Amino acid sequence: ERPLRLGLVGLGTVGGGVIRLLQTNEALITRRAGRPIEVVAISARDRTKDRGVDLSRFEWVDDMMALATRDDIDVVVELIGGADGPALTLARAVLGAGKPFVTANKAMLAHHGLGLAGLAEKAGVALKYEAAVAGGIPVIKGLREGAAANEISRVYGILNGTCNYILTTMERTGRSFGDVLRDAQDLGYAEADPSFDIDGVDAAHKLSILASLAFGTELNFADVDITGIRHVIAADIAEAAALGFRVRLVGMAENSANGLFQRVHPMLVPVNHPLSHVDGALNAVVADGNFVGRLFFQGAGAGDGPTASAVVADLIDVARDEYGDPFAMPVSSLARQPKADAGKR
Ligand code: NDP
Ligand code: HSE
Repeated sequence: ERPLRLGLVGLGTVGGGVIRLLQTNEALITRRAGRPIEVVAISARDRTKDRGVDLSRFEWVDDMMALATRDDIDVVVELIGGADGPALTLARAVLGAGKPFVTANKAMLAHHGLGLAGLAEKAGVALKYEAAVAGGIPVIKGLREGAAANEISRVYGILNGTCNYILTTMERTGRSFGDVLRDAQDLGYAEADPSFDIDGVDAAHKLSILASLAFGTELNFADVDITGIRHVIAADIAEAAALGFRVRLVGMAENSANGLFQRVHPMLVPVNHPLSHVDGALNAVVADGNFVGRLFFQGAGAGDGPTASAVVADLIDVARDEYGDPFAMPVSSLARQPKADAGKR
């Protein structure tokens, strides 16, 4: 069978994980994909960096934009990050050239997802982003396909592994915020600029994507109300515990006649609520469907292995030629929903 040939841009935590996963599970992935998935060309900033994986059999390219039009590249995988800049230029070039594009970049999707989906639709190619929300949890597939027949009124959960790792580690050990944040960075959970994590922006990016998928509404990141966990101290967590609560950063979206409500903020979660048992860098997503009932997805929300798992799942779909509209319906069918008037909630 003809292999699916990749151009892989970004060789950090996630990019390295993708290469390791493709190597480790090669035979299984080939059987599931129906054909081999082969990395052909790679790119990042620093050619000389030791990345702990053998890259010698891949072609290094300095000009990543050339991947968009090369005949020997079937799909481009973007694992650089950043809402704008080279990731966005690359996405537009690849989809514009009629090639499938796979990304883990929730910042770019939250800001430019509809435009990119429009390009993918026009070219009739895949735009896949399972890894962009909740790391290894297949929640995009779950909402986009598994729950596609449902009216979903509410979607919420723990959407940032770094924050959950910080809050749960502080709770368990009493260590300081800054100390635990450094651990989360060393473990590869945090964004390149960790203020995106601790100020709630990353969770808001993900929430806006989930809301669009769950409700069939246009992406609306600008209207998410955001409060992060930067100012949470060990004493807050201890006092919450004394009252029977745990502190969690929760993203919540609701679709009502009053409009679209999207909010990310630290919440007090009762100790007997399932979200209070989501530990470390795990994430959880809850969605209420009118026929399926309550769905609860839980799993690793960050880190190289789980995120690579989601990226490669997308590649397997591309290899099988199984894909549809990136946001579950054509962009023109997504409803425009104004921000809810909080006073009417
Ligand atoms: P890293 O910072 O570990 O890696 C980023 C990679 O991109 C590096 O290899 C870097 O090159 C390369 N890069 C950065 N800027 C450029 C540029 N201008 N041109 C070419 N290459 C560039 O990030 P992660 O792997 O953690 O994250 C990648 C993406 O995945 C982001 O969108 C992130 O939000 C998302 N994500 C991350 C998760 C995680 O757990 N880490 C989970 C889910 C999604 P070099 O190495 O040479 O400096
Ligand atoms: N920085 C993100 C997090 C990575 O901690 O959840 C996964 O999207």
